[in-house]
Amino acid sequence: MSKLVAFSVRTPRAALAAGLIVALLSGCPRARPGGVMGVASGPVIPERVAAVFPTGWRLPAGASATFASQAMAVSNSDYASEAAIEIMRAGGNAIDAAVALGFALAVTWPEAGNIGGGGYMVIKLGDGRTAAIDYREIAPLAATRNMFLDVNGKLTDKSIEGHLASGVPGAVAGLAGALAKYGTMSLSQVLQPAIRLARDGFVVDTALAGSISRARSLVTAYSPNTPYFPNGDPIAAGERLVQPDFARTLQAIATDGPRAFYEGWVADSLVAEQARGGGIITKADLKLYSPAYRTPIQTTFKEYGLLSMPPSSSGGVTMTESLNILEQYPTLPAYGSTRWFHLLGSAFQRAFIDRNEKLGDPAFVNVPLAQLTSKSYAKALRRTIDDAQATATRDVEPKMKAVEREPMHTTHYSVVDSRGNAVATTTTLNNSWGSGVWVRGAGFMLNDEMDDFAAQPGMPNMYGLVQGEQNAVQPGKRMLSAMTPTIVSDRKGNVLLVLGAAGGPTIITGTSQVILNVLVHRMSLMDAMRAPRVHHQALPDSLTFEDGGMSAPVLDSLRAMGHSMRRLRALVNVNAIMRVPRGWEGVPEPRRSGGVKGY
Ligand code: DON
Repeated sequence: MSKLVAFSVRTPRAALAAGLIVALLSGCPRARPGGVMGVASGPVIPERVAAVFPTGWRLPAGASATFASQAMAVSNSDYASEAAIEIMRAGGNAIDAAVALGFALAVTWPEAGNIGGGGYMVIKLGDGRTAAIDYREIAPLAATRNMFLDVNGKLTDKSIEGHLASGVPGAVAGLAGALAKYGTMSLSQVLQPAIRLARDGFVVDTALAGSISRARSLVTAYSPNTPYFPNGDPIAAGERLVQPDFARTLQAIATDGPRAFYEGWVADSLVAEQARGGGIITKADLKLYSPAYRTPIQTTFKEYGLLSMPPSSSGGVTMTESLNILEQYPTLPAYGSTRWFHLLGSAFQRAFIDRNEKLGDPAFVNVPLAQLTSKSYAKALRRTIDDAQATATRDVEPKMKAVEREPMHTTHYSVVDSRGNAVATTTTLNNSWGSGVWVRGAGFMLNDEMDDFAAQPGMPNMYGLVQGEQNAVQPGKRMLSAMTPTIVSDRKGNVLLVLGAAGGPTIITGTSQVILNVLVHRMSLMDAMRAPRVHHQALPDSLTFEDGGMSAPVLDSLRAMGHSMRRLRALVNVNAIMRVPRGWEGVPEPRRSGGVKGY
């Protein structure tokens, strides 16, 4: 299968781990009564079953979620979710609201919300239309295959931090494009909450204060005078963060549209910033940028319909492949059992082998989309899974060898309105605070997305992903992503779940698990989100699990089956909305901070 042959270790950046090792909520309220009944006419919501988690798991089952009867937004920031609600209350649809949320998030959750990065948006409209907008960054025109190697051919950290790490940002073009095609309001209208938050400021909460504090060495190394570090010290919880430069930038976009960003004074500031630190993004790069309007991956899992993101993200394909493999089993084991985690890990392992080798930007390389997403291919892969034994990745794919590299921000938001429209968006600067470079005069962070290319094919990137030639650096090319914004429908086509995640490759496995917890294990959304998670990405060849998330006997049995078990404090940051009788439930990631708003 693979052409990958050589591997070695890259220096992990200490700051990376911080993003996933997150503060936990405590004091979970007692269970809400068990089942939720289906609604006779209208959306089909199968009855929920009480979940059982391992004794001692820190997020007990049975807690209630926030309910709203008409419209809802869930993101990693209360202020940003509130921006979406403000727009829907003013008559906007879910797309207007998602775009408002996206810009507000760039102000209030700047570690990942952004205008200096990119993302993906999956849309399902009440009239049945669907859309997938790819506003992933692209490699600058002056990018070269070996730009991140030193004179000895060794991989450097320049794809991870500093000016050279940035791809050409797509966020402003993507959000503006989504609004123009599917929204009902003007860019100026939906930008008002973001402009207000940047201009007047907002009170920093502990989550943001922690994020800023952890980013200190990265950001201050490249950007001396940001509002996040007044007088060089991180802004503290309870203080007001005011971003006047950013407010001016957002106002320029409101007045002149995306041109302000790609051709006007904001573009000049961005290019001047790049030139200051040896970056290569030029005005020509910015002028050339356009989002790609793609056909969503449309697949089924049992009687449900799934809509997700096609390449340049690997998310939809890899999730589909994993779910298709699991669908081959006439009955699936109970949640939490040894066999459940074994099958889950084995399915993810196989899907990631294909992901890492076969996927890339479809404008540059051939991607066997039909094959990888077909049920017959999944049937063949299912036959390679031994019920009793783990298969080493090198045995599924003989040329793959084990490799060690620590994985480690991205942010996902989901919005639904009262007209049947739903939007799932994931956006990122790559790891938290991107490249560390803040555009002076324009007030925003730039991404370090170039590291999502196979900067040296066969060598792991910062998430330990070992990727091939398909994803080598080429000018104008989109780097492969794991972002998986997804909308699940019931058998009548009504929106059932809107979700996605942050966390590099764990995005795919985390999103898949929340879907499986709801569709297979019939958990409430809150339980589906709280349930302990696992992750397998082929290489490193290990089954990662959450600390306290597996009973000792299950852990022992998985080891005895040959799984190399790897413990992490927390896996993945998912934000999700689920239909329930008479409305919606929203759950921001229970392992960290988030904002759910609705009415
Ligand atoms: O596009 C991707 O797959 C990565 N740039 C996502 C990075 C990420 O989720 C980091 N978050 N925790």
